[in-house]
Amino acid sequence: MAARAQNFVCQNCGASAARWAGRCEACGEWNTFVEENAAAPARSLRKGRLFAIEPLKGLARPTPRLASGIAEFDRVIGGGLVRGSVLLLGGDPGIGKSTLLIEVAAAFARNGQRAVYISGEEAVAQVRLRAERLGLAEAAVETAAETSIEDIVATLSQGPAPSLLVIDSIQTMWTQAVDAAPGTVTQVRGAAGELIRFAKRTGAAVILVGHVTKDGQIAGPRVVEHMVDAVLSFQGEGAQQFRILRAIKNRFGPTDEIGVFEMTGAGLREVANPSELFLSERDLGSPGTAVFAGIEGTRPLLVEIQALVAPTTLGTPRRAVVGWDPNRLSMVLAVLEAHCGVRLSGHDVYLNVAGGLRIQEPAADVAAAAALVSSLARAPLPADAVYLGEVSLSGAVRPVPQTAARLKESQKLGFARAIVPEAASLEAPSGFSLVTINALASLVVDIARDGAPALRRVGGQDT
Ligand code: TYD
Ligand code: MG
Repeated sequence: MAARAQNFVCQNCGASAARWAGRCEACGEWNTFVEENAAAPARSLRKGRLFAIEPLKGLARPTPRLASGIAEFDRVIGGGLVRGSVLLLGGDPGIGKSTLLIEVAAAFARNGQRAVYISGEEAVAQVRLRAERLGLAEAAVETAAETSIEDIVATLSQGPAPSLLVIDSIQTMWTQAVDAAPGTVTQVRGAAGELIRFAKRTGAAVILVGHVTKDGQIAGPRVVEHMVDAVLSFQGEGAQQFRILRAIKNRFGPTDEIGVFEMTGAGLREVANPSELFLSERDLGSPGTAVFAGIEGTRPLLVEIQALVAPTTLGTPRRAVVGWDPNRLSMVLAVLEAHCGVRLSGHDVYLNVAGGLRIQEPAADVAAAAALVSSLARAPLPADAVYLGEVSLSGAVRPVPQTAARLKESQKLGFARAIVPEAASLEAPSGFSLVTINALASLVVDIARDGAPALRRVGGQDT
C-alpha cells in the first residue's frame, strides 16, 4: 500500500486540499484547515454482496410517522418523526437543545415507545438532574454517557430497536472507522454516517445535536447537513425567554412551519398562540409601530414592526434592520421616495421586528412602510389596526396569500380593522372593518394627515 496521503480538511465546509492554506478557497474562511488522515485504515477487501432490487412503482406507502405529542415540535417536523430517518438539531450553546430533546424523548417513552438518550457531553447524573428539574424523573427514557459509535451501535443492537435515539452531540462522537481526531470534520462525518446506517437498518428515528459556530452555521459538519433527512434550528434572541424551532431542510415535510416555546424554570413550555407573546409588550400610542398580520407556514402570526426615522448627521445615512430583509427595506424606502413624496435621504432609518422574530414574507411591506411613515410624521397609528400587503416597485399594493386566515387571527386577538390590498373577493369577518388601498401613496397621505407638519418639513420642501 502507498504511504497514507496527508490531507488538510477545512473545518468549516469540509473541502480538502493536499497542502495547508491560510484561507479556504471553497468557503473563504480563514485558519480552518486541519490536517486529517483521509484514508480509512487498511482493511481486507471483501467481495460485493448481492442485494435485492425492487420496483419503484407501488412501494410508496404513506411514511409511518411517530408523533411525540408535543404539538410545536411535531408541526415543524411535518407531523412526526419518520422511522429510519435522521434529523440534525442545531442551535447556540445554552439555547435549550438538550432540554427540548429530553422532553421529546420523555414524550415518546410516555407513548410506550423505546427512547434512548445518549449524552457525550454530560454524565448520566447530570442528565438525570435535568430530567428531575423538568419533572420527568419518572419517564422511561434510557440514558447513557457514551462517545464511541461502535459501542453505542453494538449496545443498541441488542434487544428491540429503539423508536427514538438522541445523540447529544454529534461533535463529541467518534468512530474507529476513520482515523482522525474527535471533533474534526472527518470524524463527525464518519460518526454521522454510522448512525445513518444504524437508523436505516433498525428503523429507529435518530436525532443528532449539532453545535453552532459564532456565525450560526452548524459547526464543522456542513457536510452532515447534506447527509441527514432534516435539519432543524433552535433559536432565541438574547435575554428573551422564547425559543423558535424552525426547519431549514426537511425531506419529509414543510420547511416554513415554526414551533414556539418559552423557556421557564421548569423547562420548555409550548406557546400555542405566539401572537399573544409577540404582542404582549406593545408600546401603544407611540409613533413608529405597526402590527403585521403574517403567516408562518400554516399558522397566522401577528407581530409588531417598529421603525425609527431620525435626522442624520452622517453623509451616508444609516439603514439598520433586525428581523427583516435589508433589501426589502431598501426597496420600500425607494418606493416611498419615488412615488409617495417621502424624503428619507437625510434620515437614519432603523427597523426592528419585535420579539426577535425573523419575517421572510413580502406581505410585510405595507406594515413596514406604515411604521416608517408613522415615525417620520410622528403620528401614532391606530392601536386596533393590522397591516398587510406587498408593495411593488410602481408603488402599487398587491394582494397576499391567505388573507382570510390573517384577518380571522387579527379579530381573535382583539383587532378591529385591517389595512389590506384591494382584492376582488375579500370578505371581512363580521364586526371587523377593512380599509382597502391600492397604492402606497394613499396610505402615506392618511398617516401623515395627523403629523403633516413634520412630514412637510422633510427635505426643506412642501409635499
Ligand atoms: P440546555 O438544554 O442545556 O442547552 P443546550 O443543550 O442547547 O446547550 O439549556 C441550558 C439553558 O436552559 C440554561 O441556560 C438553563 C436553562 N434552563 C432553564 O431555564 N430551565 C430549565 O428547566 C432547564 C433544564 C434549563
Ligand atoms: Mg446540551
